[in-house]
Amino acid sequence: MCGIVGVVGQGEAAPLLVEGLRRLEYRGYDSAGVATLVNGRIERRRAEGKLSNLAGALARDPLPGRTGIGHTRWATHGAPTERNAHPHGTARVSVVHNGIIENHAELRAELEAEGQSFHTETDTETVAQLLDLHLARGASPEKAVVETLPRLRGAFGLAMIFAEHGERIITARRGSPLAVGFGEGEMFVGSDALALAPLTRRVAYLEEGDWAIVTPDGAAFHDGHNARVQRAVRLTQFTGAATGRGNYRHFMEKELHEHPMVLGDTLRQFLDPATLAVRMPPLPFDPASVPRLTISACGSAFLAGHVGRYWLERLARLPVDIDVSSELRYRDPPLEPDGAAILVSQSGETADTLAALRLLKEGGQRILSVVNVPESSMARESDSSVLTVAGPEIGVASTKAFTAQLAVMACLAVGMGRARGHLSLTDEQRLTAALLEVPGNAALILEKDEEVQRVAASISTARDVLFLGRGALYPIAQEGALKLKEISYIHAEGYAAGEMKHGPIALIDPSVPVIALCPTGGLFEKTLSNLQEAAARGGRIIAFTDRDGIPHLSRFAEQVIELPRVGQFSTPILYAVAVQLLAYHVAVLRGTDVDQPRNLAKSVTVE
Ligand code: F6R
Repeated sequence: MCGIVGVVGQGEAAPLLVEGLRRLEYRGYDSAGVATLVNGRIERRRAEGKLSNLAGALARDPLPGRTGIGHTRWATHGAPTERNAHPHGTARVSVVHNGIIENHAELRAELEAEGQSFHTETDTETVAQLLDLHLARGASPEKAVVETLPRLRGAFGLAMIFAEHGERIITARRGSPLAVGFGEGEMFVGSDALALAPLTRRVAYLEEGDWAIVTPDGAAFHDGHNARVQRAVRLTQFTGAATGRGNYRHFMEKELHEHPMVLGDTLRQFLDPATLAVRMPPLPFDPASVPRLTISACGSAFLAGHVGRYWLERLARLPVDIDVSSELRYRDPPLEPDGAAILVSQSGETADTLAALRLLKEGGQRILSVVNVPESSMARESDSSVLTVAGPEIGVASTKAFTAQLAVMACLAVGMGRARGHLSLTDEQRLTAALLEVPGNAALILEKDEEVQRVAASISTARDVLFLGRGALYPIAQEGALKLKEISYIHAEGYAAGEMKHGPIALIDPSVPVIALCPTGGLFEKTLSNLQEAAARGGRIIAFTDRDGIPHLSRFAEQVIELPRVGQFSTPILYAVAVQLLAYHVAVLRGTDVDQPRNLAKSVTVE
């Protein structure tokens, strides 16, 4: 959500800011802006819409200055107009902000009573006006920041520049992540390390409550009590080259085609192909004795956790409670004293998931996070974390990170099944062998591209689409529906096939395609009956199945797509690839903005 970048350096700041914002545009893209210091004055350029509009504005009217801040916005308060685009400020100070200032209305009233005049509808402007009031009364920038931060309720990542105090950015964090990048005689600020990757790989993260003064020579970090503190400088794994689109039309297409590689890299961490054993990562709890597990996450990551629940309960006989983090954090669930929790997140920064993590930690749960960004807040705040090795995911809709999350959950389930004595050595070897085949089978599914495109063409004008699955394919049906909604704007629902007749069957008519995830084995017969019930009512059935399922489904399905015949265990990972590919092609046919669908942001760092 909202991207922030800042530069205090030696050369012109604006081109570096725009380059940083380009890498952050996946976080928000309804407007963008930069501000720099020019001879003791703050100058801004801002534009509604995509970053290219800002780049155009800068080309027409360049912005000099060696110190600057930039922002790409995902609107929370105030419409996505140029006027509401960041940076916000006054003649004395300019601010970019990621997060929500919850008490903005109260602060605005107080500041207006003090004579400050507001120019936008944003919550962010209250920060700028508060700073301005202190500066007007003679405070130094540091003092103004120290006075302002405790007045703010809610979440923020902030970067601020001050007209009369060149060559410095002050940055602050509560809730929303911020990184400081170290260059040679120049320094950078970014809302994630990806923004800084072309500029430097040496990065320090602000911890919760921290603020820092960043000058060309370094950074002075302070904690929430304003005491000077040191923050470790790490080498990020991101490189400047990591985020190209290659020859693909969209990042999402490229990321879909990375499934086999990412699955291979992720599984390789845990599976020994020689012995077919699972090498468990260090866990913050004893898998043999842990009485109960809570899994929490948001969106697709939640669905990966939900598949994990099916696996953990079946293979490890471990009771699992699962909930979306936005509910769990306010549900006040009773927690087992020796319980543990798994939090799943691509970004490791999702506000609700992070809040759930903290709640579970306070409740005495041992925390394991499954994250894609090793330096993320969740990785740092967990007792231990397991990495998905998906690399940067730029398309807003999660693809490769999702299947990598599934791969991790699968390995954990097998390893814990062994540790708890519910799986034999032979079971472990059988399941490991199945997982080792997943990357190759994912590649086979990607080869079905043309067939999937034909299905896409047949549903691209539908108003509603139903996805059905059973067991661990039920969350994958939901993933298919979520992805279709997100990027093609077609209304879609993912249902447990057995639930059909309890309501959704009323929707069935020839205009509503029903996408069935229907591999043989397990609950095949039962799903088949559910589909026949839908077909009998005029439903257009489009089935994903395997070779053995084809004769059964072709009797009544309009289209049948053959996927590799694999054991029940690994089907969720492979069917996820298929439904994501389908959503992609529908979106392409509908001409939507696949990588940056409307209203969405990649990293949801506000509640
Ligand atoms: C869906 C999607 C979102 C994310 C969700 C959680 O395609 O991308 O639903 O899965 O916002 O994000 P992370 O995994 O970063 O916590």
